[in-house]
Amino acid sequence: MKQIFIRGGVPLNGQVRIQGSKNAALPILAATLLAGGEHEIKNCPKIADVYYMLDLIRTQGAVTYWKGRNLYINTRHLTPGPLEEKKEGTMRSSIFLLGAMLGRFGEVDLEYPGGCVIGDRPVNWHISHLNKMGVFFCDSSERIRAKVSKLIGCEHVLPFPSVGVTENLIMAAVLAEGTTVIKGAAMEPEIVSLCEFLNSAGADISGAGKSDIIIRGVEKLHDGKIILPGDRIVAGTYALACMITGGGVLLEGAPTTQMTRLIPMLHAMGGHTLLTEEGLYLHRREELCAIPYTVTEVYPGFPTDLQSPLMAALCTAKGESTIEERIFGNRFRIAPELKKMGADIFIRENTAHIRGVERLYGATLTAEELRGGAALVIAGLGASGETYIAKCGHIYRGYENICRDLSELGARIYGE
Ligand code: EPU
Repeated sequence: MKQIFIRGGVPLNGQVRIQGSKNAALPILAATLLAGGEHEIKNCPKIADVYYMLDLIRTQGAVTYWKGRNLYINTRHLTPGPLEEKKEGTMRSSIFLLGAMLGRFGEVDLEYPGGCVIGDRPVNWHISHLNKMGVFFCDSSERIRAKVSKLIGCEHVLPFPSVGVTENLIMAAVLAEGTTVIKGAAMEPEIVSLCEFLNSAGADISGAGKSDIIIRGVEKLHDGKIILPGDRIVAGTYALACMITGGGVLLEGAPTTQMTRLIPMLHAMGGHTLLTEEGLYLHRREELCAIPYTVTEVYPGFPTDLQSPLMAALCTAKGESTIEERIFGNRFRIAPELKKMGADIFIRENTAHIRGVERLYGATLTAEELRGGAALVIAGLGASGETYIAKCGHIYRGYENICRDLSELGARIYGE
C-alpha cells in the first residue's frame, strides 16, 4: 500500500491483536542459517522486512514456508554465495547475516547497508569486534567481504550497548572455538529472544538480557524453535494512537513486561491501564496531558522507535513537552510534517519542544521512514478533517497492516 487516507477525530474503541516482534524476528531469521535444520518460528510478523530477509536467506538455499502465522525454514542443505539484495529493498538488518554466515561458512559477501534516513548507521563496531575473533575484512567501499578460517572466542567490551553488534557477536560466537564474553551488551528483549532460539537449537548462551553475556562455543547446532513475543513498538504505537483520540482499547498480546517505561507515561498523559494475561487494556476519557521531559535510551529506557509516535501524540496534549533523542541523529524528520497540521514544535539540536495545541488539522503529508510514518498516522487519527499520507510503503516494513488494525478499533482509515 502506497498511500493512506484518514478521517480523524474518531475515538478508538475495541480490541486488536498485536503482531509478533519485528526486531526479534529479523536476527532469528538470519540465525537459521547458522544451524542446519528445520526451524519453527511461531507468531512471525508478515511484514515487508521479514519478506526481504526471507528473499536473502533463500539465495543461500534455505527453503521457507508459512502455515498461518508460523514460519518454517529448512537450512539443512545450503549453497553459500554472495547475498544479493533487490535494490529497492535494501535493508539495514541484512547486517545480521555477517555473524550467521561467518559462523556457518567462514565467509560472507554482503551489500554494504550504508546510512539511512534516521541518521548515520555505521558498522564500525561490527567490523572491529568480529576482527577480534579472527575475521579478515577485504577493503571495499561497496560490499562487505569477510573470511575466517576458524572463529575464536574472546572477550569483547562494547563501547555502547548496540543491539545489532551484540546480536552479530552472539551468532559469530555460537560455533566458535572456546568461550566468548560480551561485556556491556545490549539488554533489549530481542536479544533474549535470539538467545532463546539459539539455545533451543543447541547453543550454550547465558546472561541474555543482562549486560554480560557468555557464549560457550559448541560443535554443532540442530533444529530450533521459538514463539515470538508481541511487538512492543507496534503495541506502543497503537497505545499512543488511543491516547490522542481518546476511547478504550484492548491490545491483545501486547508484551506489557517489555513496556515498563511507556505504561507510566500513558498514566501521566491521562490514560488508565490494566495489565492482564490477555494484554494491555487502555482507556483515556480525561484531558490529554503533556510529558515535561522524555529521553530516548537503551532498554529498559524509553525506546527511540517510539519517539516519533510519542511526539505526534503530544501535539495536542495540554502543556509543554520536551523529548531528547540520544540514539539516532536524524529522528525528528516528522516535525515539519506535524507543523503542516498546526503543531507547535521547536527543535534545537537533539531536543524537541512541543507546545500542545487545541487541535491538529488534516493535511497532505509524506512518510519518509517507518516509525515516522506510523507517527503521521497517529497525528491523522487525532486531527480534525482528512489526512492523506503518501509514500506509506515504509510503514509496511514494520506494521503488518496498520489500516486493518486501526479499522478494527473503529478508525476511519483506508490504505491503497
Ligand atoms: N552504532 C555505531 N556503530 C556500529 C553500530 C551502531 O556507531 O557499528 C551506533 C548507531 O549509529 C546508533 C547506536 O549505535 O547511534 C545504536 O544502534 P544499534 O546498533 O543499537 O541499532 P541497530 O541494531 O542498528 C536496532 C533496531 C532499531 C532500533 C535500534 C535501537 C533492528 C532490526 N533494528 O538497530 O529498530 O532503533 O536497535 O534500539 O533490530 C526500527 O525498528 O524502526 C528500528 C530502527
